[in-house]
Amino acid sequence: MTFFIAVGSLCAICGILAILLVIADRYLNDYGICKLIINRGAREEEVEGGDTLLGSLNSIGLFIPSACGGQGSCGLCKLKVSAGGPPLLPTEEPHLDATEIKENVRLCCQLKVHEDMELEIPEELFNIREYKGTVESLTDLNHDIKRLRIALPAGDEIDIIPGQYIQIETPKYKKTPEPIYRAYSIATDPLDKTHIDLCIRLVPDGLCTTYVFEHLKEGDAITLNGPYGDFVLSDTDKDILFIAGGSGMAPFLSMLAHIKNEKIPRNVTYFFGARAKRDLICLEQMAAFEAAMPNIKFVPCLSEPMPDDNWCGETGLVTDVMKHHCPDLAQMEAYLCGSPGMIDASIAALTANGMPEEAIAYDKF
Ligand SMILES: Cc1cc2nc3c(=O)[nH]c(=O)nc-3n(C[C@H](O)[C@H](O)[C@H](O)COP(=O)(O)OP(=O)(O)OC[C@H]3O[C@@H](n4cnc5c(N)ncnc54)[C@H](O)[C@@H]3O)c2cc1C
Ligand code: FES
Repeated sequence: MTFFIAVGSLCAICGILAILLVIADRYLNDYGICKLIINRGAREEEVEGGDTLLGSLNSIGLFIPSACGGQGSCGLCKLKVSAGGPPLLPTEEPHLDATEIKENVRLCCQLKVHEDMELEIPEELFNIREYKGTVESLTDLNHDIKRLRIALPAGDEIDIIPGQYIQIETPKYKKTPEPIYRAYSIATDPLDKTHIDLCIRLVPDGLCTTYVFEHLKEGDAITLNGPYGDFVLSDTDKDILFIAGGSGMAPFLSMLAHIKNEKIPRNVTYFFGARAKRDLICLEQMAAFEAAMPNIKFVPCLSEPMPDDNWCGETGLVTDVMKHHCPDLAQMEAYLCGSPGMIDASIAALTANGMPEEAIAYDKF
């Protein structure tokens, strides 16, 4: 009994101390105004100290890729910090190699701004900005994927390269006390500069996707920033292989629209993996692409079709089906988008069948 009282008291004291530390950091530590000196003085900004470097940069309109929303898991928010900032944090280390550590590359979602800092921001990130849109429609693509169509305000436009992604803001609601950001691949025809289309799959208990599925509705305001990413088509004339599953369909809708708009003559074979017929999406859109372009072939593959699916198409894993359709992978390029498991298996199958690793591009999520 005495033991349990002692352990309980110790836990309570530690808890109280932790809360006091948080309160002290929040209210007593006044870091004042800190200067951010960007690209050797090309730009200087003043920010309120205390926020993360990622948050501080956002507050002055500079958006750094941060697909995990600042959780320290995506490793995308890397910037070179040549002066200021605490020593390397344990949460940063797994994302940085020895050269990056030597060159003072940091994860800017992990660093807090407590003093003046000097940093380097790649020029292309200066073109990324925030957009305030309106939900034009939110429709079911299947039982767990929705298409979210966002209209930009009259007169506003966004230029994307097919394959890029944007980050949408989930405002604070009962599951999150703070707004959070999540990345979604853009599914829009790049000629349509006034809309953003996304395919969003529900992640059970996920903060952003629960908000989209249970709270967001037509006419709501929505904040986004971007576009980000280099998962884009090369300009070679090699035949193309697309492999996707689930909401990994999104970037290929944009890429196929681009191939159609520009009449790009490259042959495209697109394998879309799903478990059963109920998991397939965008079949009509795919049929329209195939009808408009003889060089496009869409191959849906079901790994576990249900008896009443009456499925006469390809059955099996994408990685197996692909080998029958594309015997000479060595001369092709592959673009993969979907779950880490599907992407890793596809890379292994492609390289084992002669495709060089440098011919494979992917977005994993
Ligand atoms: C570059 C990029 C592009 C992306 N594009 C798309 C897209 O087009 N469509 C889309 O639906 N998603 C896309 N994602 C994933 C998306 O950003 C979110 O991670 C996902 O929607 C979950 O967010 P959440 O806030 O609902 O879940 P969270 O609250 O972040 O996660 C809840 C829990 O689910 C787990 N989890 C997170 N993501 C997944 C997942 N995908 N599957 C299973 N478990 C998960 C987490 O580990 C956590 O335990 C993309 C991600 C990246 C990095
Ligand atoms: S935002 Fe993902 S690691 Fe920093």
